[in-house]
Amino acid sequence: MPHPTILLNNGLAMPQLGLGVWRSAEGAETETAVASALDTGYRLIDTATIYRNEASVGRGIRASGIPREDLFVTTKLWNQDAREDRAREACLESLDRLGLDYLDLYLLHWPVPGKFLAAWEALEQLHAEGRLRAIGISNFLVHHLAVLLPRVQTTPAVNQIEFHPRLQSPALVRRCRELGIVVEAWSPIMRGKVDEVPEIVSLAQRLGRTPVQVTLRWQIQLGLVTIPKSANPDRIRANADIFDFELSEADMALMDSLDTNLRLGPDPDHFDF
Ligand SMILES: NC(=O)c1ccc[n+]([C@@H]2O[C@H](COP(=O)([O-])OP(=O)(O)OC[C@H]3O[C@@H](n4cnc5c(N)ncnc54)[C@H](OP(=O)(O)O)[C@@H]3O)[C@@H](O)[C@H]2O)c1
Repeated sequence: MPHPTILLNNGLAMPQLGLGVWRSAEGAETETAVASALDTGYRLIDTATIYRNEASVGRGIRASGIPREDLFVTTKLWNQDAREDRAREACLESLDRLGLDYLDLYLLHWPVPGKFLAAWEALEQLHAEGRLRAIGISNFLVHHLAVLLPRVQTTPAVNQIEFHPRLQSPALVRRCRELGIVVEAWSPIMRGKVDEVPEIVSLAQRLGRTPVQVTLRWQIQLGLVTIPKSANPDRIRANADIFDFELSEADMALMDSLDTNLRLGPDPDHFDF
């Protein structure tokens, strides 16, 4: 069964479930992860320049034999490239490493102070040239959006943020929705730790699913895009086995109630890389 998609504000359909490849090693590990994800039915792959595995992602894609137009490939502009005003060159280098002519989505990885506006303009240009089918941002908070939006031509299609049961950022998600920006969840399964949340464990037991599956299903029903990472073919398959059950309204409310504003990754207002 094809994975569900969500319509971006430019009319492009984006799969709601994807494979993340942060900390997947360049070489066989990433190639195998990408190949098994695509074989299992994933069509969205999320990499970044800083993950240093774009070449392996490209090889995994080619090995799959799946037509390019059926795939949705995302990579991201690294902060140092934004600081050095080389967004355009960095994007073209990513395309080169991936062995692709175009990207489905290219993201500003972090809101680099004083630099994200100029970087966004470079992305708009590449979008106009057809090298990027959609452009978006990552780790932007409400106040970053307030700086960006009045000054640019193109509203970002996506904001990729840390989002999981313990960090739900309701005000940010609401603001993105108001603006027509799709929210994409990173570290969606709390880096494998959702099975340490007792309420999720009980819910999963009741539904005969795993805590990871229940968490990913919740994100799909919330209308998010979610990109769990795994380098293990069995877990990659299990993480996609979420389209034949549904959480009830009460189950959804239970998941919604678990937010403790706990960040696992860096704070977008205080990052030093
Ligand atoms: N934009 C950003 O700034 C940003 C930041 C962080 C991440 N991301 C993106 O988001 C993706 C996902 O986030 P993440 O990698 O931080 O964390 P995550 O997806 O929440 O968790 C990944 C961890 O969970 C384990 N895991 C996967 N499936 C599992 C399962 N079914 N049962 C138990 N453990 C499981 C993985 O190990 P195995 O590999 O051994 O299965 C890995 O250690 C990244 O890969 C990256 O693409 C973006």
